[in-house]
Amino acid sequence: MMADTIPDIARMPRGGPGASWLDRTLQTDRLEYLDRNDVDELKDRVVRALDRGGRRRHGIYGKCAQVALDVVADVPRPKILELGAGLGGLSEQLLRHRPDAEVTITDLDPAFVDEIARSDLGRHPRAIIRTMDATAIDAPDGGFDLAVFALSLHHLPPASAARVFAEGTRVARKLLIIDLRRPPAPLHAVVLAAVMPFTPVIPLTHDGVISSMRAYSPAALKALARHAAAEIEVEFRTRRFGPTVVVAARRSEAAA
Ligand SMILES: C[S@@+](CC[C@H](N)C(=O)[O-])C[C@H]1O[C@@H](n2cnc3c(N)ncnc32)[C@H](O)[C@@H]1O
Repeated sequence: MMADTIPDIARMPRGGPGASWLDRTLQTDRLEYLDRNDVDELKDRVVRALDRGGRRRHGIYGKCAQVALDVVADVPRPKILELGAGLGGLSEQLLRHRPDAEVTITDLDPAFVDEIARSDLGRHPRAIIRTMDATAIDAPDGGFDLAVFALSLHHLPPASAARVFAEGTRVARKLLIIDLRRPPAPLHAVVLAAVMPFTPVIPLTHDGVISSMRAYSPAALKALARHAAAEIEVEFRTRRFGPTVVVAARRSEAAA
């Protein structure tokens, strides 16, 4: 049942219910190329640039995998669900570093899922590949030890993002969300002014600017979880210079 502490979650600012005027100004409903189906080439360039960057030696996938594997460190043969997996770089790391894990690799975009299915990852004996919507997960309650949604929540408007909290904590004992950090508003304004001129020429910058304007603050993430279900607890594990990291669980699971 939805808690009614936030009457109109759809209108909540990305900076959270108490966001300042400046912070509310620095958000947008504009879609990234990654969210659109009318710009195939630009979308392809963005997803491949993200994938290349993520797979580098000190890339984000290795760091995200470390965070995810910490959450299931004590779980034997963990069943992990990756939502919004893009081209699957994070799942590949999870499989490599936990030789007893089974990983279900999913994304909303059937083209990405198809590409994973045709790659070596698609033939991995401990990988299951599926198309899946993180806001309406096609899986039974409690089927996974961990659901991971990395660098993707900001793509969703607040009402859908709250559904991810509800669904992720329904199908998995723990839901791990890793996403871009929302910068403090004055710093955000300066960075946007410096980067904005490059958005027409660099597709990744175009999507990066929109991403930063759509990133949720910790207060917003708490509000989304509370709206999804009063019994969801969130724990922040954000490191000093890293992305926002939040682990959500239903109260019974959090206690366990
Ligand atoms: C910025 S990409 C991140 C991909 C991957 N997690 C990574 O770190 O490279 C965002 C991904 O979220 C996916 N996505 C957007 N809305 C979604 C939804 N409702 N359910 C599942 N995936 C979704 C997109 O298709 C895209 O692959």
